[in-house]
Amino acid sequence: MTLAVLSARPGAALRGTLRVPGDKSISHRALILGALAGGTTTISGLLEGEDVLATAKAMRAFGAQVTRTGEGDWTVEGQAGLAEPDDIIDCGNAGTGVRLIMGAAAGFDLRATFTGDASLRKRPMGRVLGPLGLLGASWLSREGDRLPLTLSGGRLTGIRYVLPMASAQVKSAILLAGLNAAGETLVLEPEATRDHTERMLRAFGAQVEVSDEPEGRLIRLAGGQTLTGCHVDVPGDPSSAAFPLVAALITPGSQVTVEGVMLNSLRTGLIDTLVEMGADLTITGRRDAGGEEVGDITARHSALKGVVVPPGRAPSMIDEYPILAVAAAFAEGPTVMRGVGEMRVKESDRIALMAAGLAACGVGVEEEAEGFTVVGTAGGNHPVRGRATVTTHGDHRIAMSHLVLGLAAEGAVTVDEPSMIATSFPGFVELMTGLGAELG
Ligand code: S3P
Repeated sequence: MTLAVLSARPGAALRGTLRVPGDKSISHRALILGALAGGTTTISGLLEGEDVLATAKAMRAFGAQVTRTGEGDWTVEGQAGLAEPDDIIDCGNAGTGVRLIMGAAAGFDLRATFTGDASLRKRPMGRVLGPLGLLGASWLSREGDRLPLTLSGGRLTGIRYVLPMASAQVKSAILLAGLNAAGETLVLEPEATRDHTERMLRAFGAQVEVSDEPEGRLIRLAGGQTLTGCHVDVPGDPSSAAFPLVAALITPGSQVTVEGVMLNSLRTGLIDTLVEMGADLTITGRRDAGGEEVGDITARHSALKGVVVPPGRAPSMIDEYPILAVAAAFAEGPTVMRGVGEMRVKESDRIALMAAGLAACGVGVEEEAEGFTVVGTAGGNHPVRGRATVTTHGDHRIAMSHLVLGLAAEGAVTVDEPSMIATSFPGFVELMTGLGAELG
């Protein structure tokens, strides 16, 4: 379905049980590690969103045989290394894709040219290129370290690097490059970020040591390690589950269960925050799925109250602030979100776009350089108005967040560029409609 715009109308309560697509972070990593490994990697539950499909295509270009064998089922025949691609690598909208692939490619004696869509070409690559340069890679980029850029890899030497920003993408790029560097690579992260790369490297047979030091979390990886293909079972993406769960919390009479959601504690900051706001959320069936904890999360319509979100929680919910801001719009009192400057360098400037979109929907927002405050309306005389058209700048999470708002507002909310939702959450409209949402 291709629509120029998409609208959400307030309507019935949302009810039902669903599964969301596989986790985006794990899906990218499964394809990249599968290509780096020797032998066969089988993947089930892969997110078949455009971002991940771009990574699959890229891994083919670097020499791996990547085959779709069924819905969410893929195999990767790795060549125990990457070969120089014949053509430009287009990573589409995916920051994770391009940054991790650049890290992986830097370890090999090759040149590769990377580009992406208009959003990705505006995003900073220097944060990855800097440490890759210290390892020994070189590159030629557009002004300001923007894509397109050509990277030359090979003959790397391990480094000790302190992450200047909480970024799992930067950490992962360094570790993937370090795999093929001489000596050890150490990354110190003052604030812990998602650890899927460390976990998956171990599943592929690499030795990765992690220790908690006074200055932060230290990851240590010896160079020259080989990876062996394995099976990766991709759990449901908590960043996607956030949309139906918050929709249920703010829409009267709703009860929604999302099954098989990943519960890695470095990803569940939104759940913790919503519970502090008074959300009726229950988690059942906690179990292990391929090395990650998963569970079934049920959300029921709740009277929410505003909170101050601890800045230190940001890395565990960095992609969830847009939908948290929507929950906050329906809460009683202000919700303060600080220490989230990284939101400004995502697929869009998410602080600016949430502030503009919420204001257009009649919600009070105060924007700061590294944060924002949303003044909730519940309990007052000003229910969330809606009745707006929101500019998304092609950002999937800005679009889905405002559509969720529209389901519980006084009047419909329309977003532009809804096709971008398919980058991370294919089937969003169908799944939400299945719960009773009025989207179209
Ligand atoms: C991701 C890390 C985060 C997140 C992105 C996925 C990953 O980005 O926003 O959607 O898979 O490593 P940063 O590393 O830039 O914080």
